[in-house]
Amino acid sequence: MNPVDLISKKRDGSALTPDELNYLITEYVNGKIPDYQISAFLMAVYFQGMTAGETATLTQLMRDSGTVLDLSSIPGFKADKHSTGGVGDKVSLVLAPLVASAGLIVPMISGRALAHTGGTLDKLEAISGFRTGLSISEMKKQLEKIGVIMVGQTEDLCPADKRIYSLRDATATVSSIPLICASILSKKLAEGIDALVLDVKAGSGAIFDEKEKSWELARKLVETAHHFDLKTSAIITSMAQPLGNAVGNWLETKEAIETLKGEGPADFVELTLALSAQMLVQGEIVKSISEGMSLLEKKIASGEAFEKFLQIVEMQGGDVASVEKPESYPTSKFSFELKSDKPGYVSKIHSREIGQISMALGAGRSSMDDAVDYTSGIVLKKKIGDKVEADETLAFAYSNSEELLAENKTRFSKAFAISSEKTQQPLLIYGVIDASGEREWGA
Ligand code: URA
Repeated sequence: MNPVDLISKKRDGSALTPDELNYLITEYVNGKIPDYQISAFLMAVYFQGMTAGETATLTQLMRDSGTVLDLSSIPGFKADKHSTGGVGDKVSLVLAPLVASAGLIVPMISGRALAHTGGTLDKLEAISGFRTGLSISEMKKQLEKIGVIMVGQTEDLCPADKRIYSLRDATATVSSIPLICASILSKKLAEGIDALVLDVKAGSGAIFDEKEKSWELARKLVETAHHFDLKTSAIITSMAQPLGNAVGNWLETKEAIETLKGEGPADFVELTLALSAQMLVQGEIVKSISEGMSLLEKKIASGEAFEKFLQIVEMQGGDVASVEKPESYPTSKFSFELKSDKPGYVSKIHSREIGQISMALGAGRSSMDDAVDYTSGIVLKKKIGDKVEADETLAFAYSNSEELLAENKTRFSKAFAISSEKTQQPLLIYGVIDASGEREWGA
């Protein structure tokens, strides 16, 4: 076989055989095929797509490019959640301890911030001393002891995805449905879980702006996961505005802590409970979403969910005192208060822009080796549908660089639109796809 023939075969619209895909992935990981040929192959897939069979084969090859965790020695139902990425999406920080406090085993492996979306690992590492790089034996020990880990990908977990994802990022081939399916599911299948809930975002801060394309991605993710007999549900949710109020590493961790204590913003609480309840249904801890929601509300009210988060922080070396007293955490040196220049209703908050501005203020990185500034970011005081008076605060921006704050002021003000007409709050959860088909949320 040779790479040029396989690239032209895909470029011209034919499906590759499992042997041909195996050759491309194995030889790439072994350093025998260069980046430029895989880049061309990825672009061919971007335009020509892949059959369901090809997508499943690619997923399997990527999963098997490294270690697959065997958690069979740990009793209990193992489940995880994955989001396709959004702005202000700190769901994992609340969901992992919450569902673990309700009895699930949660081997959660997350990523870092890149582009305009934050990463769970950066939010956790905002807690001084928090270690996200556990060895496989440390992971198993912690799962046995407290039922949950919140860690990063090890070197030998899906190395093919690590390399291919970087290439996709640099070659404008991220938004290809079969490539997204293989990337997400290879990592989740390598975790050795029994079930998975996917949060597939739609809107200005998501991979796909168009709702229909997000539904299509959700369908393909569920179809591919079922090929591996992984119990999977996808929930399609809105990114019409950032989730919750905080955007930026520590700001989001602080909001997650408040939520675990029962004081979270309504939209963030609604989505976290919905995804968590879906996991409890999968694990047969409850029979219905509504039963799951009420159990989860009790776990928050009793303090058990927050206690579980404290256990995670303690076992992974984080500063427990800063989580118990978040007000003691240092704040950014500089801030800017954005006020409305007229009365009316908030009609638009541009999620992608808010994400990009937060990153530009220091919360993000433009390459994997950049350091992040944990305290910078944005806190929204108004959301879509809220009434606002002239001169009333819309949001705050925080940074440790006065220069970055000044540079982003105009862009920040343009991320909001105020209308004189009353506007509706956007729908947060569109629908769900699982083994019994697809339906609107709550139907
Ligand atoms: N998240 C991933 O892990 N991979 C993708 O391709 C997109 C989102």
